[in-house]
Amino acid sequence: MGSKYRNSFFDAKREWSKYKDAVLDYYLVPYLQKVKDLRKPICVVDMFAGRGEFLTGEPGSPLIIAKRLKELADDGHEVKLLCYENWDPFFLHLKDVLKPYPFAQAIPQDCFSDVESIAQTASTHTMLLYIDPLDVVQLNLRKLKLVFDKVRQNSSVEALIVFMARAFMRQAALARSMEMKIAEALNDPLIEQAEADDKAMWLDVLYGDETVEQHARSQKHQTLLTEIAGGTYWQAIVQDQTSSWNEKCLRLVDEYRKKLGEWFKLVEALAVSPDTSPIPKYWIVFMSRYKPALDLFNRAACDMVRTQYENIQSNTLFAGVDVGADVVPSQQVDRAVKRAAQPLTSCEWQELRWRTCGGRNIGMFTDSEINQSIKRLLKDRWLSGASGDRIENKAILTPTPKLKGWTER
Ligand SMILES: C[S@@+](CC[C@H](N)C(=O)[O-])C[C@H]1O[C@@H](n2cnc3c(N)ncnc32)[C@H](O)[C@@H]1O
Repeated sequence: MGSKYRNSFFDAKREWSKYKDAVLDYYLVPYLQKVKDLRKPICVVDMFAGRGEFLTGEPGSPLIIAKRLKELADDGHEVKLLCYENWDPFFLHLKDVLKPYPFAQAIPQDCFSDVESIAQTASTHTMLLYIDPLDVVQLNLRKLKLVFDKVRQNSSVEALIVFMARAFMRQAALARSMEMKIAEALNDPLIEQAEADDKAMWLDVLYGDETVEQHARSQKHQTLLTEIAGGTYWQAIVQDQTSSWNEKCLRLVDEYRKKLGEWFKLVEALAVSPDTSPIPKYWIVFMSRYKPALDLFNRAACDMVRTQYENIQSNTLFAGVDVGADVVPSQQVDRAVKRAAQPLTSCEWQELRWRTCGGRNIGMFTDSEINQSIKRLLKDRWLSGASGDRIENKAILTPTPKLKGWTER
């Protein structure tokens, strides 16, 4: 990523960045309320902190987090905020804006060079990692893995990652076109059958310098992409000729979530789009080892999605009219719950709720809307296992023959 982009990043907050910040802020409130009762000190690590605020005076993530932590600090809770920023001009400003928060520390270091110390802090604190790089290339899972491996045993670590799946796919498409350019040479049996170590030499002999250089560049690029993604699964996605670009991005996010599942029981991703287009700019990936945290993250996601919906409506057709965006039609929720329940033999009430609101549904239905729907489906005998008079998170619910035979119209 060019330094020009880095320099201009903090000129003014982009509209989609506002939604990203809103999710962070919405999530912090219930998260901090919950973890403060664990009676452990709390530490939030902003691994790519930036300058703390935008030139317009709007707060960046370090200030958003600091303000929320201050509410707990004022109540006597032990809190800590570690903000890593490795570009000096940004670090100096960050240090300045964090001065009013004695529990906050600006650290002028590459966050990955301090993995040991982050892991050490995680062993004594409840920790939230906020990971928001400028560019997908900085999101190297080989390096992030060092942090996740170190905190693997610690059950109270959660993370939010801003994952630029579209930027990744663009890089992947570039890697593919680099490969295509030298395809003829690479498919030459003499090259194909050469030992890996000898390939470059044979390429040079048979096809010349330029091909060797292109091959080396292409290999380097592919290695980097594999390190970011944590595997080679991205290659099959980029090569797929049958899927649309958007579907490819969604599949990449699904696979990335699976990969992160090696460290966290719960990995969900919320797409964030600008107001002017349904095409996501990036995904906020949420990771936790505590399944019920999904309700909190999903609520923050719903708040963001509904705020955006209201913004879009009030800027266009329905200016000044209350469009009631916070009400999703009950039939729509019922359909989603039925879809989630139909293939199951049985499962706990809360599990059915999580299955309904997770995956590609994140941010669509709140936990309470899904609970209401489950109650309705119990009353109407689509589900059995509870009366439907009240929420019973641990009740084992079973789809009835009526639901098993249901076909969606
Ligand atoms: C997208 S900006 C962060 C924006 C910030 N989260 C906000 O909302 O205000 C990413 C920042 O990370 C810094 N950075 C890049 N690589 C880093 C690294 N390895 N360690 C620490 N900081 C890094 C960049 O200089 C840049 O300021």
